[in-house]
Amino acid sequence: MVKLKRNFILETQIITISDVSETEKIKKAASILAHGGLVAFPTETVYGLGADATDENAAKKIYAAKGRPSDNPLIIHISDPADAEKYAITNECYYRLAKAFMPGPLTVILPKKDTIPSSVTGGLDSVAVRCPAHPIANAIIKESGVAIAAPSANISGSPSPTCAEHVIHDMMGRIDAIVDGGASEIGLESTIIKLDGNSAILLRPGAVTCDALSCVCDKVEVSHAVTEEISANERPLSPGMKYRHYAPTSPLVLLDGDDDCVIAFLRRAQNAEHCTILCYDEEVSHLRFERLIPVGAKDDIEAQSSKLFSALREADTLDGDIIYAHLPKKEGLGLALYNRMIRAAAHTIKKV
Ligand code: TXA
Ligand code: MG
Repeated sequence: MVKLKRNFILETQIITISDVSETEKIKKAASILAHGGLVAFPTETVYGLGADATDENAAKKIYAAKGRPSDNPLIIHISDPADAEKYAITNECYYRLAKAFMPGPLTVILPKKDTIPSSVTGGLDSVAVRCPAHPIANAIIKESGVAIAAPSANISGSPSPTCAEHVIHDMMGRIDAIVDGGASEIGLESTIIKLDGNSAILLRPGAVTCDALSCVCDKVEVSHAVTEEISANERPLSPGMKYRHYAPTSPLVLLDGDDDCVIAFLRRAQNAEHCTILCYDEEVSHLRFERLIPVGAKDDIEAQSSKLFSALREADTLDGDIIYAHLPKKEGLGLALYNRMIRAAAHTIKKV
């Protein structure tokens, strides 16, 4: 047991579940949640840190365990899209989206009902609703009988966890249980949209892309905060947009240039400084194998997305002074990768 702070000396149970047929273990995790405890569990995007979303005290424990600012609202997770009725005011577009993308990596912000305490939504009159596709997450939520508030299961500000080891690193001693259900397939958090009638504003890009949303919603507008830094006096549409995210300990710099120019820059950098490099698989043979982290093939955005957060965590275990990575393209799932990487880099882009 790790003692992180005087208040955090919980005996954290690890519950390994490889299949939903392990009903006793699903029941155990659900029962801890139903009794006001905190349980981290896998979803198809990232691991979530769950608590009963209808129990104010349980949800408050999430903020304490993560060190999360209390004005940053939580997503509530349901096992059936129709359960949104209990907690939010739905509309026709919500059901169109549910038919197309749920269960799956999409979160929809809707006007909230009183069944969700305002401390869960950071005082906002809206609530974010998501129905995860991961069978273990879905089974635990269903068995608990309530909506489960779940942010990503990392310490606030650090990269989201994509496997149980990451959660163990951040949350051991702080929460009641961690369900180990293997690696999260997508590796980046869900797409978040806010609905205005049948139109959507994209607040966080994810695996449900703009093009896919455009097939279902009348209009899709991308919030400027998805790709740009928000100004100090701006009130963002989503409170989470104003906080630094996904930050490794060493500074991350994103390289903008042709692949040849990036490789030439990285070769010089390896001779001049103690740098860590997140590179494409094809580039491994062109660089010295020192603090080098391959993140997938150049054209494989899915692989790069699924490896990003573990690569940032791995970079932190190496003794580099600076981390370099390619600036991704903003197309399709690439927009989600771009959004996470520019935030991890605090918008530091270097033209090469
Ligand atoms: O994939 C995911 O969405 C993961 C898994 C665990 O489901 N969850 C996740 O939660 O990424 P979290 O708390 O790390 O990110 C939720 C984001 C935050 O930036 C928060 O500000 C925003 O959603 N959010 C939540 N409720 C909101 C609301 N009512 N209005 C605007 N933004 C909201
Ligand atoms: Mg998060």
